[in-house]
Amino acid sequence: MSREKSIQLYQAETLSTQQKKELLKIYNKYFPLSIWSKKYFDTFFSDTKRCPIGFFLKAGGTYIGLVLGRLNKHDNFFNINTLLIIPQYQKKGLGKKLLDKIIFEIKKNHSVEKISLHFREQNRLKEFYTNLGFKNHRVDGYYNNGDRKYYMDIKI
Ligand SMILES: CC(C)(COP(=O)(O)OP(=O)(O)OC[C@H]1O[C@@H](n2cnc3c(N)ncnc32)[C@H](O)[C@@H]1OP(=O)(O)O)[C@@H](O)C(=O)NCCC(=O)NCCS
Repeated sequence: MSREKSIQLYQAETLSTQQKKELLKIYNKYFPLSIWSKKYFDTFFSDTKRCPIGFFLKAGGTYIGLVLGRLNKHDNFFNINTLLIIPQYQKKGLGKKLLDKIIFEIKKNHSVEKISLHFREQNRLKEFYTNLGFKNHRVDGYYNNGDRKYYMDIKI
């Protein structure tokens, strides 16, 4: 009988250089159309003016998910830049758990009115985010490869 590995939640601000490297590898593996460079990833965390916030999940020493967000350039709302649960761990409530956690922390620490996010058409996430309270689904530009960029937000 296989035993479930226990899943732990960590705050991304405490990541060491090596841990950032591992997380970046996971991110780039599962988002091959939106590759992040090491420099972009480092800058994401070091640009403290934009109040980066993030959480990740580990199971038995392996990274299985992450969520990252920060203020938009004009400091008037938060943007969730990425949310990922690796395929073997999807549909177990973990994506919702990470999203709830980041929304809770943003609400607690920032007086912004909304949290926004974008996703590719092919990811078919309208229903997922709608069920979690996001609204205002609309096309908001295009990704580099021509994919439609969908926008949703949630008032907080
Ligand atoms: C999208 C993603 C984060 C969801 O994570 P997850 O852990 O599988 O989702 P959860 O198990 O927490 O699902 C929460 C609810 O949403 C539903 N749901 C999950 N994925 C869904 C989808 N693609 N479409 C519609 N509903 C979905 C679940 O059934 C569950 O419903 P319930 O509460 O009624 O049981 C995950 O599928 C993923 O990482 N996908 C690939 C990367 C990606 O597209 N990320 C988003 C980029 S913005």
